[in-house]
Amino acid sequence: MQNRITELFKIEFPIIQGGMIWTSGWRLASAVSNAGGLGIIGAGSMYPDVLREHIQKCKKATTKPFGVNIPMLYPDLDKLMDIIIEEDVKIVFTSAGNPKTWTSFLKEKGITVVHVVSSLKFALKAQEAGVDAIVAEGFEAGGHNGRDETTTMVLIPAVKEHIQIPLIAAGGIANGKAMLAAMVLGADGVQVGSRFVASEEASNHMNFKQVVVDAKEGATHLTLKELAPVRLVKNTFYNKVQQAYAEGATTEELKALLGRGRAKKGMFLGDLEDGELEIGQVSALIHDIKPAGEIVNDIMSEFNKRKAELSSL
Ligand SMILES: Cc1cc2nc3c(=O)[nH]c(=O)nc-3n(C[C@H](O)[C@H](O)[C@H](O)COP(=O)(O)O)c2cc1C
Repeated sequence: MQNRITELFKIEFPIIQGGMIWTSGWRLASAVSNAGGLGIIGAGSMYPDVLREHIQKCKKATTKPFGVNIPMLYPDLDKLMDIIIEEDVKIVFTSAGNPKTWTSFLKEKGITVVHVVSSLKFALKAQEAGVDAIVAEGFEAGGHNGRDETTTMVLIPAVKEHIQIPLIAAGGIANGKAMLAAMVLGADGVQVGSRFVASEEASNHMNFKQVVVDAKEGATHLTLKELAPVRLVKNTFYNKVQQAYAEGATTEELKALLGRGRAKKGMFLGDLEDGELEIGQVSALIHDIKPAGEIVNDIMSEFNKRKAELSSL
């Protein structure tokens, strides 16, 4: 398959594995790239030295293109960017911050830059900042998201109407049917997150993978909007957050409740009670843990099958 996204990244299929804290290390990223998609190392949960190690291991595990995601929420951005340059990373996805901050710096070094947004307003800012492509992520998505609650179904056509650069849809896409739908809406490719959390190569804890497989409709909620809105599994920690809201907690009190290391505790160490578990609504449609390469192949074969069926309508 060839289109603007496969050409931009020099990949076989327009399927991007989203950068995900505590989930997407070199094993997952290289498996997705080896299967013909674009694997992304999620630097958000990595100290600078750890990121360097993951990049080096990823280069050994695949000869195909891969990228690094840098969420601008976390410290040490300068150091992470230095490593990106020193290790000659060719593709960077920035997120959770102002696209103007790093785009021209990275572009001057010959790096392909993509920025993740959750609204048309930020898509326009990213385009103006000179990024090569945009990921537009709907309200269904796992992880951090926008405050506006715009769903993928509405966001993609809204962004498509106003931007000219390649557009990648994210949020609620875990199979070929949803990928086809996203492309009908105007996307050139898709970014998939939650589906890869339940993959063999994902570095998050097995307990968390099982939570994803067991999740039913309504298992998640976008909360903590005062801090950085995030879609969480409704576990004990989530219930404590809701209780804090009911008692009129201030932003400072919510910050204290969240504390440090809460996401690591839940997703990486597998504490399902007190940890933070980030996953998308689409977890309700994920029923098994599979190799990441199989996930890519399944998405593509269902995409092609459904496309053929629809063309006979
Ligand atoms: C566990 C988890 C962690 C995530 N961490 C990040 C991150 O560090 N940076 C980022 O840009 N997006 C992050 N995301 C969002 C994904 O990259 C992706 O855009 C999103 O999961 C797509 O929606 P879906 O979950 O419905 O597939 C995360 C998502 C999940 C589920």
